[in-house]
Amino acid sequence: TVVDVDPEAYDAGEHDSFMHKEMLEQPAAAERVLRGRLDDRFGTAHLGGLNMDARETRAIRRVKILGCGSAYYVGQMGAALVEELARIPADAEAASEFRYRNPIIEPDTLYVAVSQSGETIDTLLAVQEIRRKGGRVIGLVNVVGSAIARECDGGIYLHAGPEVAVASTKALTNMFLGFALLALQLGRVRDLSIADGRRLIAGLNRLPEQIQQVLDQEDALAGLAGRLAEADSLFFVGRVRGYPVAREGAQKFKEISYRHAEAYQTSELKHGPLALISPEVPTVAVVPSDELTDRNVGALHEIAARRGPLVVVTHEDVDLGGLDVDRVVVPRNERELDPILLTIPLQLLAYHAALSLGHDIDKPRNLAKSVTVE
Ligand code: G6P
Repeated sequence: TVVDVDPEAYDAGEHDSFMHKEMLEQPAAAERVLRGRLDDRFGTAHLGGLNMDARETRAIRRVKILGCGSAYYVGQMGAALVEELARIPADAEAASEFRYRNPIIEPDTLYVAVSQSGETIDTLLAVQEIRRKGGRVIGLVNVVGSAIARECDGGIYLHAGPEVAVASTKALTNMFLGFALLALQLGRVRDLSIADGRRLIAGLNRLPEQIQQVLDQEDALAGLAGRLAEADSLFFVGRVRGYPVAREGAQKFKEISYRHAEAYQTSELKHGPLALISPEVPTVAVVPSDELTDRNVGALHEIAARRGPLVVVTHEDVDLGGLDVDRVVVPRNERELDPILLTIPLQLLAYHAALSLGHDIDKPRNLAKSVTVE
């Protein structure tokens, strides 16, 4: 495969870093991954690259997602999408661990390898292990013709364009959208109704504009980030759909700000970490408007009672019951698609925290964009 490279893609232009440029490219990148893949007539997605016919698609009994770092966390978001839309049991696992537990490979499981670079050795070896045992693997890969893309039985190219910053932003967003397309297609050969399919397509089409609305809040987020950067240690919390968002948020924050950031399930706070909450330890809480809002707000009160500073990433209609918090409001989409909109402000928080600390945003210490050694 010949890959056309636009030299401008490797120039940060007016931006201080590639990460900044790549965050701002997300609305356009999101449009690219969706383009030509949505079918409103049948309320489904068309993913020709999967190389699977409807009968094979229907025969899938389980979905197993593998990736490293951000690709693993977005894999957890993807597993939730597959379970919600297709009602197929799905989970994500760190590709770096998978091979070492002599995994059971089953013919009716669809394995999904997620990788921006397509070169991460842990993910590549997991793919090879699955295929060696006769499993079917598809790739969600950004770099066309990369090692993982070549080893897979089929896949979904992410079309995010070149990503240079170590901290993944636009590729991660397109991974999420790739999972939404996959879940839609899997769902629509099963029990997802045409009305629900169309509801999701409409939601997907609204996303690029809504991502832009979050990016437009950059100035306010920069102010918050400057304050978070003063803490040595932070929590990022969320529940169910919000938990992988918190994991990804903590990962971004720690990798470029070098602050200790730990993700936790909000429901588990009372089983341990509440002991650490104090005025010196801020919490970034992901609280979407959903069936768990009241419980989430209850947990925020527990944090506030211990005078833990709170930044709450939430929706307009969520009532925080008079809590004194810094509130970041993102637009609502369909509830299944909300996680990606909740993720965008966490990118900006990490970026501005690192910027205020004077760190090298694109090349954090000890990390590489693409890890090609085990
Ligand atoms: C490295 C990077 C992470 C990235 C991971 C997976 O660890 O530091 O930011 O998420 O690799 O990279 P991939 O190219 O496979 O998505």
